[in-house]
Amino acid sequence: MPSNLAYHGSLGDYFVSRAETSAYNAYIDRPAVLELAGEVAGLRILDTGCGPGFYAAALAERGASVLGLEASTVLVEHARARLGDRAEIRQHDLNQPLDEIADGAFDGVVCALVIHHLRDRERFLGELFRVLRPVAGWSSPPPIRRRTGGTSRTRTTPRSGSTW
Ligand SMILES: C[S@@+](CC[C@H](N)C(=O)[O-])C[C@H]1O[C@@H](n2cnc3c(N)ncnc32)[C@H](O)[C@@H]1O
Repeated sequence: MPSNLAYHGSLGDYFVSRAETSAYNAYIDRPAVLELAGEVAGLRILDTGCGPGFYAAALAERGASVLGLEASTVLVEHARARLGDRAEIRQHDLNQPLDEIADGAFDGVVCALVIHHLRDRERFLGELFRVLRPVAGWSSPPPIRRRTGGTSRTRTTPRSGSTW
């Protein structure tokens, strides 16, 4: 599969060991983004580039239903081990469309420290716009954006058997 080799294999394990407690990730980035996200209980949150699932775990802990998307096999394994059945984690290259996700399926999107890795950011943002329900929020440090209408692509039904 994909894409950003910096997080594959042993480099993925290294990222996990650093990001769990590093000053930037644990004490600046995650607290700031989670504060911006606000109250998420009962919301459906898409965590794009979820890595080992630190955000997914925190959001699930706060009562959100979370789908995490991640390209790195080793980080998918870390995320699934961390989350168990508290969130769904799928392996997905974010340089590809989110074809398995229906329009408006999510109330919010987290994209923490990921977008700079992607090739076609405009298309990616279009996909986030499509899968957010109108007037939902998304968080990609540092700003929060709000969807205000329209769609760039359409997919009105989820993949068979999918809850999203
Ligand atoms: C700095 S890490 C951030 C991980 C997580 N969001 C966090 O803040 O803990 C960047 C993440 O983006 C993922 N990533 C990079 N390119 C990707 C792609 N094309 N598709 C999916 N994930 C990607 C990496 O595998 C890695 O997990």
